[in-house]
Order: sequence, then structure tokens, then C-alpha cells
Amino acid sequence: METIFLTGATGHVGFRVFILALQAEYSVRAAVRSLTKSEAILASQPIKALNPGPRLNFVEIPDLTAEGALDEVLEGVTFVVHVAAPITSTVGIGDDLEAHFIGPSVQGTLNLLRSASRHAGIRRVVITSSLAAIVDTTNIEEATRTVLNEHSRTFRIPRPPYSTSVQAYCAAKALALNAAKAWMKEQQPSFGVTHILPGDVYGPNELVTDPDDMLQMGTNRILLTPVVGGHHDPSASTTIHLDDVANAHIAALRPEMPTNRLYLLHSGGVSGKGRGLVRNCS
Ligand SMILES: NC(=O)c1ccc[n+]([C@@H]2O[C@H](COP(=O)([O-])OP(=O)(O)OC[C@H]3O[C@@H](n4cnc5c(N)ncnc54)[C@H](OP(=O)(O)O)[C@@H]3O)[C@@H](O)[C@H]2O)c1
Repeated sequence: METIFLTGATGHVGFRVFILALQAEYSVRAAVRSLTKSEAILASQPIKALNPGPRLNFVEIPDLTAEGALDEVLEGVTFVVHVAAPITSTVGIGDDLEAHFIGPSVQGTLNLLRSASRHAGIRRVVITSSLAAIVDTTNIEEATRTVLNEHSRTFRIPRPPYSTSVQAYCAAKALALNAAKAWMKEQQPSFGVTHILPGDVYGPNELVTDPDDMLQMGTNRILLTPVVGGHHDPSASTTIHLDDVANAHIAALRPEMPTNRLYLLHSGGVSGKGRGLVRNCS
């Protein structure tokens, strides 16, 4: 049985990827920052219903950027799916936006790639990037009029000090993508890397049990805040349903899916209606 090493399973996107991976009969080794977080996963309805038994186990990795932290835990793994990254939120970010966003995204990704290259059995690495990684976020007016295609990249990446968490997040995603591409070009490992670039992700967050958390964490708050009478600035991104994002991660593991590519995920064109248009780009 093939084993997936998964990061980010305690989050909105990663948990859905986690469920689909188990449904697809993979074994999953999920990295969590603290093992207490695995309790919420084990107590969740979808996991109870699946009852995966020994196909599911957790490893505690407090810091994905720590040198060598991932070397041993990748033993026996076939696929790495790297979803974890800090995203914007109304809570828990602090003042040092560079430390919060850039290191975990860029060094976390490079650390994982380096460790993966020490394991000959790893065939594919899937990384959750974002449309934010290829949009010129220094000029949103222009960006909203720009059609992105498979060759789009941004080289106007915001530099520190960052004035907002959105700015730091976008910079982190762009820098992580560029760093991973450069590393692959230089190192030429035996595995391929697939980058998944969703727009704003909406869909049920099955790990959130407190309604207040819905309004503070994750992208669902962009939808829900106006519903309860609050204000949220409009998002310049397109939208994509959570299930389509999770499916794309699992589809990317199939041998017939080309690697070393970017897959842009958005639903129904720039109006953001409908479900499931996936475009790939090299
Ligand atoms: N939501 C969207 O609209 C959207 C759009 C495009 C791309 N993405 C990408 O999708 C991925 C998941 O996002 P999400 O919406 O699921 O966010 P989320 O619900 O906040 O989940 C984030 C996950 O990453 C982990 N994480 C956060 N900071 C970390 C750090 N410094 N070190 C290690 N792990 C860390 C979290 O672990 P803890 O539980 O321990 O905090 C959690 O498992 C991210 O890479 C994000 O950039 C999301």
C-alpha cells in the first residue's frame, strides 16, 4: 500500500485532502505541529466513519523548517503532499509578518524537498501553492484586468517590511513557488513536483466546531462575514470549491498526470461561478 506523507491535515484544505486520500485507500502519515491536534482529527465525524485503523498515523513535527526534521519521517513514503502554510487570519499572526509567513513557507518547502531527495522511494511531491503566487499583488488594479495563463509569473514580489498580512502571505507564496522551481532545476531529483494553485477556497471546514472560529480563520470568513452583517474587503481572486481543490491533490498522484507543472484551479471563469475548471501550466 502506498503511503502519503501529508502536512496541513489540521487545516481547511489539508483535512479534506486527508479524507480523500484515505477514501482512495492510501495510507497517510500526517505531520502535525502538536500531537494534541491529532485528537480533533480522530474525533471528527469523517474519520470515525472511515475507521482507517493502521492506514492512519501521526508524526509530531513542531517546526517544519528545522534542519533534518523530516529526514526520518519520510522513510517508506511514496508521495509527499505539502499543504501546510500560514494563511491570513484575524487572529494569531502577531506583528512580525516576515517571520510568520516567509520562513515557514519558503524554508518549510525547501526543507521538505531536501529531505524527500534523500529517499529514493518518493515518486511525487505535491505542493499547495496559490494563485497569489503568480499574481502581481503590488498592483491589484492591473492584476484584476490580467488574464493568467500557464506561463504567468510575477517578479514584482512585495518586500519586507510588509504592511499587511495579505501582502506577506502573497509574497510567501510567490517566494516559495520560485524557490521550489529553482531547487528542482538545480538538484534534478528523481521525483517530480506538482504545484497546485487554487483561488479562494470555499467549502465546509469539518474541523471547526465553534461558529466564531468560522469568522476568524480560513477563507470561508470572506463569504460569511457579510452574511452576519460584518465587512470584508472584496477579494481580487477567483474562487474554487474545497472538494475540487482536494481532488486535484489526489489526482496529481496518478502516474498519468504530468509533473513539474503548475495547475491553476478556479471555478467557472473569472465570475467564479460553477465548479471545477482545472488548467495546467508548465
Ligand atoms: N484557503 C484558501 O483560499 C487557499 C487558497 C490558495 C491556497 N491555499 C493554500 O492552501 C494551504 C492550506 O490553507 P488552508 O486554507 O487550509 O489554511 P488553514 O485552514 O489555516 O490550515 C493551515 C494548515 O497549515 C498549518 N500551518 C500553518 N502555519 C504553519 C507553520 N508555520 N508551520 C507548520 N504548519 C503550519 C496549520 O497547522 P496548525 O493547525 O498547527 O496551525 C494547518 O494545518 C496553504 O498552503 C495555503 O496557502 C489556500
